[in-house]
Amino acid sequence: MAYFPELRLRRLRRTEALRSMVRESHVDVKDLIYPLFVVESHNLKQEVISMPGVFRYSPDLLPRELEEIARLGIPALLLFGIPREKDEVGSSAYDSEGVVQEAIRVIKGSTPELVVVTDVCLCEYTDHGHCGVVSDGYVDNDRTLELLAEMAVSHAEAGADIVAPSDMMDGRVGTIREALDENGFEHIPILSYAAKYASAFYGPFREAAESSPRFGDRRSYQMDPPNWREALREVEQDVAEGADLIMIKPALAYLDVIQRVRLAVNCPVVAYNVSGEYAMVKAAAQRGWVEERQIVIEILTAIKRAGADLTVTYHAREAASWLQESK
Ligand code: PBG
Repeated sequence: MAYFPELRLRRLRRTEALRSMVRESHVDVKDLIYPLFVVESHNLKQEVISMPGVFRYSPDLLPRELEEIARLGIPALLLFGIPREKDEVGSSAYDSEGVVQEAIRVIKGSTPELVVVTDVCLCEYTDHGHCGVVSDGYVDNDRTLELLAEMAVSHAEAGADIVAPSDMMDGRVGTIREALDENGFEHIPILSYAAKYASAFYGPFREAAESSPRFGDRRSYQMDPPNWREALREVEQDVAEGADLIMIKPALAYLDVIQRVRLAVNCPVVAYNVSGEYAMVKAAAQRGWVEERQIVIEILTAIKRAGADLTVTYHAREAASWLQESK
Protein backbone atom coordinates (compact mmCIF):
# COMPACT_ATOMS: atom_id res chain seq x y z
CA MET A 1 0.00 0.00 0.00
CA ALA A 2 1.41 3.34 -1.05
CA TYR A 3 0.98 6.48 0.98
CA PHE A 4 1.87 10.10 0.31
CA PRO A 5 4.21 11.17 -1.22
CA GLU A 6 4.18 8.09 -3.55
CA LEU A 7 0.40 8.13 -3.52
CA ARG A 8 -1.13 11.29 -4.96
CA LEU A 9 -4.84 11.06 -5.63
CA ARG A 10 -4.73 14.37 -7.50
CA ARG A 11 -2.90 12.69 -10.41
CA LEU A 12 -6.17 11.38 -11.83
CA ARG A 13 -7.86 14.77 -11.48
CA ARG A 14 -5.34 16.77 -13.50
CA THR A 15 -7.26 17.09 -16.79
CA GLU A 16 -10.88 16.73 -17.84
CA ALA A 17 -9.90 13.79 -20.06
CA LEU A 18 -8.46 11.93 -17.07
CA ARG A 19 -11.35 12.88 -14.82
CA SER A 20 -13.89 11.66 -17.31
CA MET A 21 -12.08 8.31 -17.70
CA VAL A 22 -12.33 7.54 -14.00
CA ARG A 23 -15.77 9.02 -13.39
CA GLU A 24 -17.88 6.51 -11.48
CA SER A 25 -21.42 7.77 -11.99
CA HIS A 26 -23.06 9.24 -15.06
CA VAL A 27 -26.39 10.86 -15.74
CA ASP A 28 -27.93 9.78 -18.99
CA VAL A 29 -31.06 11.18 -20.55
CA LYS A 30 -32.38 7.60 -20.68
CA ASP A 31 -32.51 7.60 -16.87
CA LEU A 32 -35.00 10.45 -16.72
CA ILE A 33 -38.76 10.38 -16.30
CA TYR A 34 -40.62 13.66 -16.80
CA PRO A 35 -43.72 14.37 -14.68
CA LEU A 36 -46.65 16.02 -16.46
CA PHE A 37 -49.79 17.57 -14.99
CA VAL A 38 -52.89 17.30 -17.16
CA VAL A 39 -55.96 19.36 -16.42
CA GLU A 40 -59.46 18.49 -17.51
CA SER A 41 -59.93 21.54 -19.73
CA HIS A 42 -59.26 22.84 -23.26
CA ASN A 43 -56.57 25.01 -24.71
CA LEU A 44 -54.95 25.49 -21.31
CA LYS A 45 -51.26 25.92 -20.58
CA GLN A 46 -50.71 27.39 -17.17
CA GLU A 47 -47.46 27.79 -15.25
CA VAL A 48 -47.31 26.47 -11.69
CA ILE A 49 -46.37 29.53 -9.62
CA SER A 50 -44.13 27.69 -7.18
CA MET A 51 -42.49 25.67 -9.98
CA PRO A 52 -41.22 28.06 -12.66
CA GLY A 53 -40.88 26.26 -15.99
CA VAL A 54 -43.46 23.61 -15.06
CA PHE A 55 -46.87 23.89 -16.68
CA ARG A 56 -50.27 22.27 -16.42
CA TYR A 57 -51.70 21.31 -19.78
CA SER A 58 -55.09 20.33 -21.10
CA PRO A 59 -54.84 17.08 -23.11
CA ASP A 60 -55.36 18.83 -26.49
CA LEU A 61 -52.16 20.86 -26.02
CA LEU A 62 -50.00 17.85 -25.19
CA PRO A 63 -48.85 16.77 -28.68
CA ARG A 64 -46.63 19.82 -29.25
CA GLU A 65 -44.92 19.43 -25.89
CA LEU A 66 -44.51 15.71 -26.35
CA GLU A 67 -42.76 16.11 -29.65
CA GLU A 68 -40.08 18.20 -27.96
CA ILE A 69 -39.80 15.79 -25.03
CA ALA A 70 -39.34 12.87 -27.41
CA ARG A 71 -36.85 14.83 -29.53
CA LEU A 72 -34.75 15.47 -26.42
CA GLY A 73 -34.52 11.71 -25.94
CA ILE A 74 -36.47 11.59 -22.66
CA PRO A 75 -37.93 8.08 -22.67
CA ALA A 76 -40.84 8.36 -20.23
CA LEU A 77 -43.55 10.51 -18.69
CA LEU A 78 -45.26 10.30 -15.31
CA LEU A 79 -48.84 11.54 -15.55
CA PHE A 80 -50.88 13.31 -12.89
CA GLY A 81 -54.49 14.31 -13.49
CA ILE A 82 -56.42 17.30 -12.22
CA PRO A 83 -60.12 16.56 -12.74
CA ARG A 84 -62.93 19.09 -13.05
CA GLU A 85 -65.08 17.32 -10.46
CA LYS A 86 -63.95 15.85 -7.15
CA ASP A 87 -66.03 13.75 -4.77
CA GLU A 88 -65.71 11.68 -1.61
CA VAL A 89 -64.53 8.55 -3.39
CA GLY A 90 -62.56 10.10 -6.25
CA SER A 91 -64.90 8.78 -8.97
CA SER A 92 -63.17 10.60 -11.82
CA ALA A 93 -59.96 8.68 -11.05
CA TYR A 94 -61.36 5.45 -12.50
CA ASP A 95 -63.67 6.90 -15.16
CA SER A 96 -62.72 5.77 -18.67
CA GLU A 97 -63.43 9.36 -19.80
CA GLY A 98 -61.27 10.83 -17.01
CA VAL A 99 -58.54 13.34 -17.75
CA VAL A 100 -55.60 10.94 -17.37
CA GLN A 101 -57.29 8.29 -19.49
CA GLU A 102 -57.92 10.94 -22.16
CA ALA A 103 -54.30 12.17 -21.94
CA ILE A 104 -52.97 8.63 -22.34
CA ARG A 105 -54.97 8.21 -25.55
CA VAL A 106 -53.67 11.55 -26.87
CA ILE A 107 -50.06 10.62 -26.05
CA LYS A 108 -50.35 7.18 -27.61
CA GLY A 109 -51.85 8.79 -30.71
CA SER A 110 -49.13 11.40 -31.13
CA THR A 111 -45.89 10.03 -29.65
CA PRO A 112 -46.37 6.30 -29.02
CA GLU A 113 -42.62 5.85 -28.39
CA LEU A 114 -42.91 7.68 -25.05
CA VAL A 115 -43.39 5.29 -22.12
CA VAL A 116 -46.45 6.41 -20.20
CA VAL A 117 -46.32 5.89 -16.44
CA THR A 118 -49.44 6.90 -14.51
CA ASP A 119 -49.73 7.96 -10.89
CA VAL A 120 -52.28 5.77 -9.14
CA CYS A 121 -53.61 7.63 -6.10
CA LEU A 122 -56.90 9.24 -5.14
CA CYS A 123 -55.70 12.52 -3.62
CA GLU A 124 -56.17 14.62 -6.75
CA TYR A 125 -59.68 13.23 -7.20
CA THR A 126 -61.17 13.31 -3.70
CA ASP A 127 -62.90 16.43 -2.35
CA HIS A 128 -61.17 15.95 1.02
CA GLY A 129 -57.74 15.60 -0.63
CA HIS A 130 -56.71 12.36 1.09
CA CYS A 131 -55.19 9.47 -0.83
CA GLY A 132 -58.03 7.08 -0.03
CA VAL A 133 -61.56 6.72 1.25
CA VAL A 134 -62.10 8.41 4.61
CA SER A 135 -64.22 6.87 7.36
CA ASP A 136 -64.46 8.61 10.73
CA GLY A 137 -61.56 10.87 9.87
CA TYR A 138 -59.23 7.94 9.12
CA VAL A 139 -58.16 6.79 5.67
CA ASP A 140 -59.68 3.34 5.30
CA ASN A 141 -57.00 1.08 3.87
CA ASP A 142 -59.02 -1.88 2.64
CA ARG A 143 -61.88 0.09 1.09
CA THR A 144 -59.32 2.16 -0.80
CA LEU A 145 -57.61 -0.88 -2.34
CA GLU A 146 -60.50 -1.77 -4.66
CA LEU A 147 -60.67 1.78 -5.99
CA LEU A 148 -56.93 1.91 -6.64
CA ALA A 149 -57.17 -1.39 -8.50
CA GLU A 150 -60.02 -0.02 -10.59
CA MET A 151 -57.99 3.09 -11.34
CA ALA A 152 -54.93 1.07 -12.39
CA VAL A 153 -57.04 -1.11 -14.71
CA SER A 154 -58.66 1.93 -16.31
CA HIS A 155 -55.21 3.44 -16.97
CA ALA A 156 -54.08 0.17 -18.55
CA GLU A 157 -57.24 0.05 -20.68
CA ALA A 158 -56.49 3.56 -21.94
CA GLY A 159 -52.98 2.45 -22.93
CA ALA A 160 -50.66 3.18 -19.97
CA ASP A 161 -47.36 1.29 -20.11
CA ILE A 162 -46.62 1.27 -16.36
CA VAL A 163 -48.85 2.03 -13.36
CA ALA A 164 -47.34 3.69 -10.30
CA PRO A 165 -49.30 3.53 -7.02
CA SER A 166 -48.29 6.38 -4.69
CA ASP A 167 -51.01 6.14 -2.06
CA MET A 168 -49.07 4.15 0.60
CA MET A 169 -51.98 1.84 1.48
CA ASP A 170 -50.91 -1.61 2.67
CA GLY A 171 -51.53 -4.37 0.18
CA ARG A 172 -52.10 -2.18 -2.86
CA VAL A 173 -49.40 -3.74 -5.02
CA GLY A 174 -50.87 -7.24 -4.64
CA THR A 175 -54.41 -5.99 -5.16
CA ILE A 176 -53.45 -4.03 -8.27
CA ARG A 177 -51.41 -6.96 -9.65
CA GLU A 178 -54.37 -9.27 -9.27
CA ALA A 179 -56.78 -6.83 -10.90
CA LEU A 180 -54.44 -6.17 -13.83
CA ASP A 181 -53.93 -9.89 -14.39
CA GLU A 182 -57.67 -10.65 -14.22
CA ASN A 183 -58.29 -8.02 -16.87
CA GLY A 184 -55.69 -9.24 -19.34
CA PHE A 185 -52.95 -6.78 -18.34
CA GLU A 186 -50.47 -9.31 -16.99
CA HIS A 187 -47.81 -7.60 -19.13
CA ILE A 188 -48.17 -4.19 -17.45
CA PRO A 189 -45.47 -3.52 -14.81
CA ILE A 190 -46.10 -1.90 -11.43
CA LEU A 191 -43.77 0.85 -10.27
CA SER A 192 -44.47 1.06 -6.57
CA TYR A 193 -43.73 4.17 -4.54
CA ALA A 194 -42.56 1.75 -1.87
CA ALA A 195 -40.92 4.20 0.49
CA LYS A 196 -42.78 7.47 0.32
CA TYR A 197 -42.21 9.78 3.24
CA ALA A 198 -44.62 12.29 4.77
CA SER A 199 -42.51 15.17 3.50
CA ALA A 200 -42.66 18.95 3.44
CA PHE A 201 -40.93 18.75 0.05
CA TYR A 202 -44.28 18.03 -1.68
CA GLY A 203 -45.60 21.57 -1.07
CA PRO A 204 -45.36 22.91 -4.65
CA PHE A 205 -46.82 19.68 -6.08
CA ARG A 206 -49.94 20.16 -4.01
CA GLU A 207 -50.40 23.58 -5.58
CA ALA A 208 -49.87 22.08 -9.05
CA ALA A 209 -52.17 19.12 -8.47
CA GLU A 210 -54.69 20.85 -6.18
CA SER A 211 -54.30 17.92 -3.82
CA SER A 212 -53.72 19.34 -0.34
CA PRO A 213 -55.66 17.47 2.31
CA ARG A 214 -58.58 19.56 3.60
CA PHE A 215 -58.06 18.30 7.14
CA GLY A 216 -55.19 16.64 8.94
CA ASP A 217 -52.11 15.42 7.11
CA ARG A 218 -50.81 12.25 5.47
CA ARG A 219 -48.80 10.96 8.40
CA SER A 220 -51.09 8.02 9.09
CA TYR A 221 -50.13 6.48 5.74
CA GLN A 222 -46.92 8.07 4.42
CA MET A 223 -43.69 7.15 6.21
CA ASP A 224 -42.11 8.94 9.15
CA PRO A 225 -38.97 10.72 7.85
CA PRO A 226 -36.55 9.50 10.54
CA ASN A 227 -37.03 5.81 9.59
CA TRP A 228 -34.88 3.80 7.20
CA ARG A 229 -35.38 0.22 8.43
CA GLU A 230 -39.08 0.67 7.90
CA ALA A 231 -38.34 1.67 4.29
CA LEU A 232 -36.72 -1.72 3.78
CA ARG A 233 -39.86 -3.40 5.16
CA GLU A 234 -42.04 -1.40 2.77
CA VAL A 235 -39.79 -2.38 -0.11
CA GLU A 236 -39.77 -6.05 0.96
CA GLN A 237 -43.54 -6.05 1.15
CA ASP A 238 -43.99 -4.47 -2.27
CA VAL A 239 -41.46 -6.73 -3.98
CA ALA A 240 -43.16 -9.76 -2.42
CA GLU A 241 -46.53 -8.55 -3.73
CA GLY A 242 -45.13 -8.26 -7.23
CA ALA A 243 -43.73 -4.74 -7.71
CA ASP A 244 -41.54 -4.64 -10.82
CA LEU A 245 -39.78 -1.40 -9.96
CA ILE A 246 -39.68 0.45 -6.68
CA MET A 247 -39.46 4.14 -5.87
CA ILE A 248 -37.99 6.16 -3.03
CA LYS A 249 -39.42 9.61 -2.52
CA PRO A 250 -38.26 12.35 -1.98
CA ALA A 251 -34.69 11.93 -3.22
CA LEU A 252 -32.23 14.44 -1.79
CA ALA A 253 -32.96 14.23 1.91
CA TYR A 254 -33.22 10.43 1.49
CA LEU A 255 -30.08 9.46 -0.43
CA ASP A 256 -29.14 7.11 2.40
CA VAL A 257 -32.45 5.30 1.94
CA ILE A 258 -31.86 5.01 -1.81
CA GLN A 259 -28.47 3.49 -1.16
CA ARG A 260 -29.70 0.99 1.42
CA VAL A 261 -32.59 -0.05 -0.79
CA ARG A 262 -30.25 -0.44 -3.77
CA LEU A 263 -28.13 -2.83 -1.71
CA ALA A 264 -31.17 -4.77 -0.51
CA VAL A 265 -33.04 -5.50 -3.75
CA ASN A 266 -32.27 -6.47 -7.32
CA CYS A 267 -35.20 -4.81 -9.06
CA PRO A 268 -34.77 -1.37 -10.64
CA VAL A 269 -34.77 1.47 -8.12
CA VAL A 270 -36.36 4.80 -9.01
CA ALA A 271 -35.87 8.08 -7.15
CA TYR A 272 -38.34 10.96 -7.18
CA ASN A 273 -36.62 14.34 -7.20
CA VAL A 274 -39.76 16.08 -5.95
CA SER A 275 -41.40 19.45 -6.41
CA GLY A 276 -39.89 21.13 -3.33
CA GLU A 277 -36.42 20.08 -4.41
CA TYR A 278 -37.06 21.61 -7.82
CA ALA A 279 -38.57 24.80 -6.39
CA MET A 280 -35.62 25.44 -4.09
CA VAL A 281 -33.13 25.19 -6.97
CA LYS A 282 -35.27 27.42 -9.20
CA ALA A 283 -35.79 30.07 -6.53
CA ALA A 284 -32.10 30.31 -5.69
CA ALA A 285 -31.09 30.25 -9.37
CA GLN A 286 -33.54 33.05 -10.23
CA ARG A 287 -31.82 35.23 -7.64
CA GLY A 288 -28.43 34.36 -9.02
CA TRP A 289 -27.49 32.64 -5.76
CA VAL A 290 -26.53 29.30 -7.35
CA GLU A 291 -25.43 28.22 -10.82
CA GLU A 292 -28.47 26.30 -11.97
CA ARG A 293 -27.02 24.09 -14.66
CA GLN A 294 -24.18 22.80 -12.49
CA ILE A 295 -26.46 22.36 -9.50
CA VAL A 296 -28.99 20.31 -11.44
CA ILE A 297 -26.39 17.99 -12.97
CA GLU A 298 -24.73 17.60 -9.56
CA ILE A 299 -28.08 16.70 -7.98
CA LEU A 300 -28.98 14.18 -10.68
CA THR A 301 -25.51 12.64 -10.47
CA ALA A 302 -25.74 12.33 -6.69
CA ILE A 303 -29.03 10.47 -7.02
CA LYS A 304 -27.36 8.04 -9.44
CA ARG A 305 -24.34 7.66 -7.17
CA ALA A 306 -26.65 6.77 -4.29
CA GLY A 307 -27.95 3.91 -6.43
CA ALA A 308 -31.03 4.96 -8.36
CA ASP A 309 -31.39 3.53 -11.85
CA LEU A 310 -34.03 6.03 -12.90
CA THR A 311 -34.98 9.49 -11.66
CA VAL A 312 -38.31 11.24 -11.90
CA THR A 313 -37.48 14.94 -12.19
CA TYR A 314 -39.07 18.23 -13.21
CA HIS A 315 -35.58 19.20 -14.43
CA ALA A 316 -35.71 16.47 -17.12
CA ARG A 317 -36.23 18.79 -20.08
CA GLU A 318 -33.48 21.25 -19.28
CA ALA A 319 -31.16 18.48 -18.10
CA ALA A 320 -31.74 16.60 -21.36
CA SER A 321 -30.80 19.62 -23.44
CA TRP A 322 -27.71 20.35 -21.31
CA LEU A 323 -26.63 16.72 -21.61
CA GLN A 324 -27.08 16.94 -25.39
CA GLU A 325 -24.94 20.10 -25.55
CA SER A 326 -22.14 18.62 -23.49
CA LYS A 327 -21.84 15.52 -25.68
C1 PBG B 1 -49.73 11.84 -4.35
C2 PBG B 1 -48.43 12.32 -4.85
C3 PBG B 1 -47.72 13.39 -4.30
C4 PBG B 1 -46.58 13.52 -5.08
C5 PBG B 1 -46.63 12.57 -6.07
N1 PBG B 1 -47.78 11.80 -5.89
C6 PBG B 1 -48.05 14.32 -3.23
C7 PBG B 1 -48.43 13.88 -1.90
O1 PBG B 1 -48.27 12.74 -1.50
O2 PBG B 1 -48.92 14.74 -1.20
C8 PBG B 1 -45.54 14.56 -4.84
C9 PBG B 1 -44.64 14.83 -5.96
C10 PBG B 1 -43.82 16.05 -5.82
O3 PBG B 1 -43.79 16.72 -4.78
O4 PBG B 1 -43.17 16.38 -6.81
N2 PBG B 1 -50.45 11.13 -5.15
